[in-house]
Amino acid sequence: MISATCVAPVNIALIKYWGKRNEDLILPVNDSISMTLNTNEMCAKTTISASEKFERNRMWLNGDEVDFEENVRLMRCLKGVQNLVLANGISKVPLSWKLHIASRNNFPTAAGLASSAAGYACLVFTLARLYGLPHNEELTTIARQGSGSACRSLYGGFVHWHRGVLENGSDSVAVPVVPAQHWPNMHVLILVVNDARKKTSSTLGMQRAVTTSTLLQQRVTDVVPHRTKKLIDAINTRNFTEFAEITMRESNQFHAIALDTFPPCIYMNDVSHAIVNFVHSYNEAAGTILTAYTFDAGPNACLYVLEEHVPKLLASINEAFPNDIAQSVEYLQGIPMTTPSP
Ligand code: PMV
Repeated sequence: MISATCVAPVNIALIKYWGKRNEDLILPVNDSISMTLNTNEMCAKTTISASEKFERNRMWLNGDEVDFEENVRLMRCLKGVQNLVLANGISKVPLSWKLHIASRNNFPTAAGLASSAAGYACLVFTLARLYGLPHNEELTTIARQGSGSACRSLYGGFVHWHRGVLENGSDSVAVPVVPAQHWPNMHVLILVVNDARKKTSSTLGMQRAVTTSTLLQQRVTDVVPHRTKKLIDAINTRNFTEFAEITMRESNQFHAIALDTFPPCIYMNDVSHAIVNFVHSYNEAAGTILTAYTFDAGPNACLYVLEEHVPKLLASINEAFPNDIAQSVEYLQGIPMTTPSP
C-alpha cells in the first residue's frame, strides 16, 4: 500500500467569482482574486492510500462514506489527475490500483467558509503527490472542476484565477500574484456569525444569477476587468486603502447580484449588516480606512486588517457585538499546501 497525506487551507475571495459560463468544466464568467489563509485551523486534510488489494475507489468525508464513484466532480478530479499521469509517462503508483480517500475539514462545511475550496484543492494535490506529479498550473485546472474556487487554494499569498477564453478551459488557471511574504502584516479576522449550512448552494445561486440577474452582465464586462487590475496594483504597492475599498465594494456588489437574482438569494443576515455598518463607522472615526469586510455566500464576515491595528479592532468588535459573534479568529496569509511528516 502506498499513501500520501496533505493539508490545504481555505482562500477568501477579494474579487468574487460568481457565475459560470460552462457548468461542466466550471468556467467562470469573470476573473477572481483571493488571499490564501495560513492556518491549520481552517483547512482540509486528506489521506489517500492506493493498494492492489482494494476492490473499488472509496471516500470518507469527516468520517462518513460518500458515494465516490457516483460523484461527477470527485471523479472528474481523479480522472484529470490520472490523465496528467498518463501524459507524464511515469507514476509512483499503478493507475489500476484503487484508492481509499479520507478527508476532513476542521471548519463548518458549506457555511460560506470556503470548505469546498480547501477540500478539492487538497484532494487534487494529494492525488498529485501520490502519483508523483509536480505542483504546476495544470493542477489548478483540475481542482477548478471540483469546485471553482478550489483552484486558488493551490497557491499561497494572493492568487489570480483567470477566466480564460478557450472553450476547453485549459487557460482558465490560477496563478500566484505575490507570495505571502510580500505583505507579511496583512491579517484576516473571521467572525463566525452562523455556521449553519447555507440555504442556497453556490452552484444553484450562480445558475440563477446567470439566467436572471441583469446586473451580472454589467459587472462582468464593465466592472471586474478594471477592478482586477486596480486590486493587483494595490497588492503590488501594498496600498491598504485602495485594497480595502475595492474589497468592500466587491463584497457589496456580489451580494447586490445575489439580491438581483430571481428569486433572490440572501446570504447575509442582520448581524452581517451590522458588521458592515460597524466597519464603516470604525473607519470614519479613524479618519482613514483601517479595516475592510468581505462576505462570501454566507453571513460570516472576513475582516482584512494590518497586524498593528488588530488589538484595537478586536477590542471594538467585542464591545460592539458581545453576543452575536460565536467566534473570532485571526489569521495570517500563508503558504498553501503542506505534506505533514508521517
Ligand atoms: O467555488 P464555489 O462554488 O464554492 O463558489 C465560491 C463563490 C464565492 O465564495 C462566493 C466567491 C469566491 O470567489 O470564492
